[in-house]
Amino acid sequence: MASHGKESDTAVEAMVAQVEKHPISSILIIIAMQTEALPVVNKFQLTENPHSSFPKGVPWVHYHGTYKDIKINLVWPGKDLTFGVDSVGTISASLVTYGSIQALEPDLIINAGTAGGFKAKGAGIGDVFLVSHLAFHDRRIPIPTGRLSTGDSLDMSPQDEASITANDATVKDMEGAAVAYVADLLKVPAIFVKAVTDLVDGEKPTAEEFLQNLAAVTAALDQAVTQVVDFISGKCLSEL
Ligand code: ADE
Repeated sequence: MASHGKESDTAVEAMVAQVEKHPISSILIIIAMQTEALPVVNKFQLTENPHSSFPKGVPWVHYHGTYKDIKINLVWPGKDLTFGVDSVGTISASLVTYGSIQALEPDLIINAGTAGGFKAKGAGIGDVFLVSHLAFHDRRIPIPTGRLSTGDSLDMSPQDEASITANDATVKDMEGAAVAYVADLLKVPAIFVKAVTDLVDGEKPTAEEFLQNLAAVTAALDQAVTQVVDFISGKCLSEL
């Protein structure tokens, strides 16, 4: 029987309150690109789980291990089954977030990845941002101000630019707001760590600058993710 909204809300609040009193023991790290994910997999000495309980047929890859008494799960959405490229973007990010929360029941999510930065807002190549606000920029729906703006394109159309400016974004990515949407639906807190590979309002073509800086910037990303996990270690959600 379906539970009534109010009862299930109360149950969720009770569960959240319970979890908040205990040190965080399980983290889910979601990273869209293999190049971004592997340094973190190696840093935490994670191993691939060949028997993940993900739906049959999805390309999602689950790595796991333990670091400072925290169970670390890292999920990389894998290569697109048709095109053989990393499954970037909001559709994949939403599905992976949903499936991973169901399968792994994390206390906390970390969505880490690269992003385009706006130099007019003070972003520089290799800077890593701990995101304070998020929004989508290509839904053409008026939404509240956000500092990370998410859409499904690496480039920026004039219409996107207007939305991103309205969002007051310093960085722009392709997954963050999608992960935030699902994490919020399922009441799992989430942290967003984004490292700048290209300056959206700079001189160089975005794709070229992104590829040029990807390897070096993922090293900065990996260090930042480690710092975040070290900070979390031994703390309860209410202490973050
Ligand atoms: N990831 C890295 N650079 C990006 C950009 N310019 N837009 C969206 N996602 C990105």
